[in-house]
Amino acid sequence: MALKFPIYPPPQYGGQTQPVKRPKEFACFSYDKDHKFRLDDSSLKWYYPPDLGVNLSNGFDQFIRHDDSIDEHLDSLLKTIASHEQKTGEPIDAHIVTWRGMLTKIMAVPFDDSEFEMNATFYRDSIFVEEHHAFSLAQRQQEVAGRPGRRNGPLPEMMSYWGYKFETLSTLPRPWGETSRDYIENRDQEVVNNKEQYCSVVRTGFGNTIVCLGGEVDAIWDAKPATPGEPIKWVELKTSAEIRNQNEQFRFDRRALKYWIQSFLLGVPKIIVGFRNQDGILTSVQEFQTMSLPYEVQRRGMAKWDGNVCIKFATLFLDWLRLNIKDEGVWRIRRRKGAKDIEVFRVEEVGHGRIITDEFMDWRIKL
Ligand code: A3P
Ligand code: MG
Ligand code: MG
Repeated sequence: MALKFPIYPPPQYGGQTQPVKRPKEFACFSYDKDHKFRLDDSSLKWYYPPDLGVNLSNGFDQFIRHDDSIDEHLDSLLKTIASHEQKTGEPIDAHIVTWRGMLTKIMAVPFDDSEFEMNATFYRDSIFVEEHHAFSLAQRQQEVAGRPGRRNGPLPEMMSYWGYKFETLSTLPRPWGETSRDYIENRDQEVVNNKEQYCSVVRTGFGNTIVCLGGEVDAIWDAKPATPGEPIKWVELKTSAEIRNQNEQFRFDRRALKYWIQSFLLGVPKIIVGFRNQDGILTSVQEFQTMSLPYEVQRRGMAKWDGNVCIKFATLFLDWLRLNIKDEGVWRIRRRKGAKDIEVFRVEEVGHGRIITDEFMDWRIKL
């Protein structure tokens, strides 16, 4: 029997806004150029404005692409948390531990009818939530296969490459002062590699629920503050088709929901969008402040979404999840396309499936 959490129309989540904590980074990790895990900030990138007029398709044949068919579970996040606990000598206080992408899906529910599946398990006072990888992989493959595509237009693989190419064109591997003019001027020649990542691990909150999230951050504006816990000038990089008419503005405003949620969750204050034409030429770059993005979209009045509704929905859902997932076993969290509820049901009666690593459990037992 599935438990059901109802999804009401957005106005029902109006009224008083929910108290939210400011996300604070307490740990981080990197994947290097071979996607090898490192407990440090070695893959951090610095933002530096890209040259306009560059073709984002350049270098596609050399693209070093991460194989996303492998299920990485929560492993890297758990390693980073265990290392933090080793330093402090106590377990983190989060009620929910997950990747940023999972909470992005939850927060978007009131305005997005997409399907998703996740796995969850309760262990020592926390609920650990992972993506149901096989489901998401099949979903991505179907999306690519079903995309109509412009006649003679770019392939979906190419359009996805444009996003990573823009990151390479807009970042430096070291701060500006330590980077050669030569590197800055020849960024178009760099091989694009999406195996490399910097991930921030933050403590944040929704109402009474404390949440630990891990997620990729694209770049930093200047430097990390000297005092831990101070806001960090992160930058989220996005590419988008140029906006030439009302219809294209509407499409952008609708996509901005995900831009906003994604950035909000890790406390990324600035979103930098590279606009490109139909041929993939970078034509302009525009900065958006994450905090004011929802108001900008509301002012135009085209795409109807409200950040406060997303926050309220997530707050209620997480409260409900905590009331229902309280002992061992593996639970499926599922939303079917357009469904008016999120279903939660047990798929394994005992244990924690593959969500939590043995290494992490061994470590927690010692605490
Ligand atoms: P754009 O967002 O500019 O299109 P992120 O913006 O989250 O940092 O992701 C970086 C890039 O990864 C995206 O750039 C896009 O190119 C690619 N990407 C992310 N999710 C994807 C998906 N589901 N399918 C295809 N490409 C994706
Ligand atoms: Mg990214
Ligand atoms: Mg990005």
